[in-house]
Amino acid sequence: MKQAQHQPSRRDMRRALTAVAAALAAMVSLTLPIAPAMAQQQKIKIGLMLPYTGTYAALGNAITNAFKLYVDENGGKLGGREVEYFVVDDESDPSKAPDNANKLVKRDKVDVLVGTVHSGVALAMAKVARDNSTLLIIPNAGAGDITGPLCAPNIFRTSFSNWQPGYAMGKIAAEQKKKTAVTFTWKYAAGEESTGGFKEGFEAGGGKVVKEMTLPFPQVEFQSYLTEIAALKPDVVYVFFAGGGAVKFVKDYAAAGLNKTIPLYGPGFLTDGTLEAQGDAAQGLLTTLHYADGLNNPKDKAFRAAYLKAFKAEPDVYAVGGYDAAQLLNVGLTAVKGDISKRNELVAAMESAKIDSPRGPMTLSKAHNPVQDIYLRKVEGKENKVIGVAVKALADPARGCKL
Ligand code: PHB
Repeated sequence: MKQAQHQPSRRDMRRALTAVAAALAAMVSLTLPIAPAMAQQQKIKIGLMLPYTGTYAALGNAITNAFKLYVDENGGKLGGREVEYFVVDDESDPSKAPDNANKLVKRDKVDVLVGTVHSGVALAMAKVARDNSTLLIIPNAGAGDITGPLCAPNIFRTSFSNWQPGYAMGKIAAEQKKKTAVTFTWKYAAGEESTGGFKEGFEAGGGKVVKEMTLPFPQVEFQSYLTEIAALKPDVVYVFFAGGGAVKFVKDYAAAGLNKTIPLYGPGFLTDGTLEAQGDAAQGLLTTLHYADGLNNPKDKAFRAAYLKAFKAEPDVYAVGGYDAAQLLNVGLTAVKGDISKRNELVAAMESAKIDSPRGPMTLSKAHNPVQDIYLRKVEGKENKVIGVAVKALADPARGCKL
């Protein structure tokens, strides 16, 4: 009997089970509605895939610094959510890019990919972003295809297309009545698209590109090409080199004495973030870019002061791309109150964003590429002084984009 008294009857069991089921149901009904709110309290995971070694290392660091600067200025948050970084050195190596991007997306499960500098690496990132529907913001790489045939609702760029500064410089050279040009660059998307843009602008204005020279990225053995330029004697030389390669090219061009006889033009990457190292060799160079020294707008002044204070260095065009990537993401996340799962609303807010950029006001084209003034700049001392606007509100043609 005693035993029987302690043994639960079937009825007791049923009651107990019903009570447990009811409690569970209550818990589920409680948890479900608050799930999104809890998700918003989790940190937003940002995958920074950028070069921290190699010829573009300084560029990757400037982008990272400025992205983090904006987040810090915003109380360590974007769209009200704290930020957690997952950082990968992409080494500007396209062959490693699919693995690197997949690690961030599949292993670290980042909410947003931010990167990169090198167009070849960025093209691989765009493929991973498209395959996984991951939000991707490109703070530098100008590959035309990304806002051309590969354009997508989840892919944005806060920098430029390689075509934009190239086209503007070609237009300027033609306006200056230069007749012949030689182009020279690394043989990969950025260089070929930049020199292609120059050729388009130059030849539309009546000039002729008489020779297009390339060497593999990131080689810097320029001597034989300089000899050929000297022999060809064009009215102007247009080159795309950046980072460490730009430093070496500008110095070699001057050392060969060519800066005295044939004007050297380029997109502003040739002299941005490099003047300290280029010194006298860069003086007087004309370049075109969506950023310059001496813009003197309030946002730029504040940005420069804050960057200088935080990193004891002057910001450059790369820093601007990184800063604006964070600004753009903040616009999207703020519109959805941090709920990144609301993809359509987030994308719509980013598409119509009016960014107060250090470069001046920035909006995006339908293809998600900045529509922006391209400045004409001249190297004076350690500055790329703005001396005019080469093309106002220039949009990339976005050939092949079906958005
Ligand atoms: C690019 O690969 O798209 C690229 C790299 C460095 C620059 C600009 C563009 O300064």
